[in-house]
Amino acid sequence: MDASLLRVITALNRIAETSLVWPQGLMNPGGPHRRLKGHHYPISIGEDECAVFGKLVAALRPEQAFIIGNAFGFSSAYIADVMQKNGGKSVISLDNQSEGDGQRAAAIAQELSLSIGVDGILKNKKGSSPDDIAKSVEEKTYDLIFIDGLHRHPQVTKDFHGVLPYSGPRSVIVFHDSWIVGVPEAVAEAKKAGFRCLWIPTSCEMILATRDPARFDELRAIFPEGVEDRGRRSYVYGYLLYLQETTSFHLNRLFGR
Ligand SMILES: C[S@@+](CC[C@H](N)C(=O)[O-])C[C@H]1O[C@@H](n2cnc3c(N)ncnc32)[C@H](O)[C@@H]1O
Repeated sequence: MDASLLRVITALNRIAETSLVWPQGLMNPGGPHRRLKGHHYPISIGEDECAVFGKLVAALRPEQAFIIGNAFGFSSAYIADVMQKNGGKSVISLDNQSEGDGQRAAAIAQELSLSIGVDGILKNKKGSSPDDIAKSVEEKTYDLIFIDGLHRHPQVTKDFHGVLPYSGPRSVIVFHDSWIVGVPEAVAEAKKAGFRCLWIPTSCEMILATRDPARFDELRAIFPEGVEDRGRRSYVYGYLLYLQETTSFHLNRLFGR
């Protein structure tokens, strides 16, 4: 575990009780993910997925990042921490607090940011994508954009179109959860807009997209395990695994475990 991840997890454990989800990963080996204890949603990215951001940030040194979907701040705190160490200047997250106890999650995200000392570069904003993107951005373009809001179709495509005006030719747009309906559709839309997309076999599967051929080669060098044009797969496998976890969450709650 890298120092940023350790800092985020240690601080989060001090601030709130969380439980681990998919400790060995969902679609591929990886994880664990996290949720606030007693709440089914929201679920954070996996620790292995933080490591992907860690490598990406260390190699490409993005100065500005924009994140849709903040929850209790796990990914934004991690990204801001590694960016702060690598010359990053600002991170904005946008969340409409619609999942679980959204207000409490937002308060935890804020405390987490303060606690690990990234509040100088990270601003967590309340608002809905895509409508509130224009009033949330503070830069003309963002080097790194992470789309991890509502996983539905066509919401993810709307998120993509919402951030597109704020992406430069060498920006990297990261999609999370390529196994969920809505994400492959948005990735297909990105390809139509001239992006090349690298699928990374993390716990919930990430897609890194960029329009610049040289930047795409850089991504391939950083993630040799990545695959371009992996093609669409059946959603059934992912949903079955997801259903299994959801059932055990509700059974545990019912029996007070
Ligand atoms: C999967 S969680 C984000 C997890 C976070 N990226 C992490 O790993 O720590 C999804 C979040 O998106 C938020 N959300 C859902 N629809 C949204 C929208 N239209 N605009 C902004 N945020 C949204 C939810 O409130 C929830 O907190």
